[in-house]
Amino acid sequence: MNRNNLVLVSGVKPTGRPHIGNYFGAMSQFVELQNEYKSFIFIADLHALTSLQNPKELNENIIDVALDYLAVGIDPKVTCIYKQSDVPQVAELAWVFNCITTVPYLMRAHAFKDAEAKNKEINIGVFDYPMLMAADILIQDADIVPVGADQKQHLEITRDTAEKFNRIFGETFTVPKERILEKVETIPGTDGQKMSKSRDNVIGLFASDNEIKEAVMKIPTDSKEVDEPKDPETCKVFALHKLFTEGPEFEDLLHRYESGGIGYKESKEILIKNISNFIAPLREKRERLAQDKDIVIKILKDGGEVARKRAEEKMEKVRQAVGVSL
Ligand code: TYM
Repeated sequence: MNRNNLVLVSGVKPTGRPHIGNYFGAMSQFVELQNEYKSFIFIADLHALTSLQNPKELNENIIDVALDYLAVGIDPKVTCIYKQSDVPQVAELAWVFNCITTVPYLMRAHAFKDAEAKNKEINIGVFDYPMLMAADILIQDADIVPVGADQKQHLEITRDTAEKFNRIFGETFTVPKERILEKVETIPGTDGQKMSKSRDNVIGLFASDNEIKEAVMKIPTDSKEVDEPKDPETCKVFALHKLFTEGPEFEDLLHRYESGGIGYKESKEILIKNISNFIAPLREKRERLAQDKDIVIKILKDGGEVARKRAEEKMEKVRQAVGVSL
């Protein structure tokens, strides 16, 4: 179905190499939906600043995420690809949202509560993160926002903020919906917890064969012997088979888990083979693209202009609505 008049917005933070959780949760949706929606996919570099304060690294990461986007199949001819900082109106809008949002409301955000529970020193950027994210989404009039399950609360905050602004200043913002793939929700890492750049539990989306092998081999399993039945629902290796193993091979595996007859070593070997087969073409495409970084910089610059122009039009309406435009 063509929903070309509906707007899709999403982004990835350039804080490290993307992993298969980012891909199956979010990036694969960007590719799948780009011909259906008017798509705006950005690199959330201002969000990255809340945790990454190394200019050289941030700079390299921005180009890296752009290459990742292109390598997985986001097409700059149909999707507007840009970096968040090229749309400064987003920061301006976030300030307006700050002024209609209360501190106790933002204190309920999971990311803030987690940081606080770990006794981390929290910067204002971390606390204010959901407001900048609401601005990213609302400034482009997004209808849908494809993300992984961990972003659900951020989308709830975004909707609340749009509704609150509309109530106070008059109908201005579209109220967007998240799009979370039910089958995927949260991809587990090699320790069974949520796969996350900040934990040592990822399988890189462009990992080498050796890295894939190393990551899979360290997945913990119980001590059941080869011929004992095993529970596919609790096995952390099997959780990844659900993404990478298909058809008769998957059916056979499931059967051998349930009735006994497969050891974890063999299960891991099959998984390594299937992940490697999936990643190899992506990795090769990325290597080719990385040879011409000027093209990537040009794509970001052009995308930035398009996104900024739309954002400025919207921001002018906001300025009028709140009363600062004369
Ligand atoms: P980030 O960079 O942490 O993650 C990018 C996307 O990957 C999804 N994801 C996962 N999905 C399934 N399983 C996992 N284990 C997993 N880990 C990550 C995330 O849900 C996300 O969709 N706050 C965002 C960036 C952002 C944004 C936005 C997104 C800033 N502004 C506006 C959408 C709209 C973030 O940190 O994503």
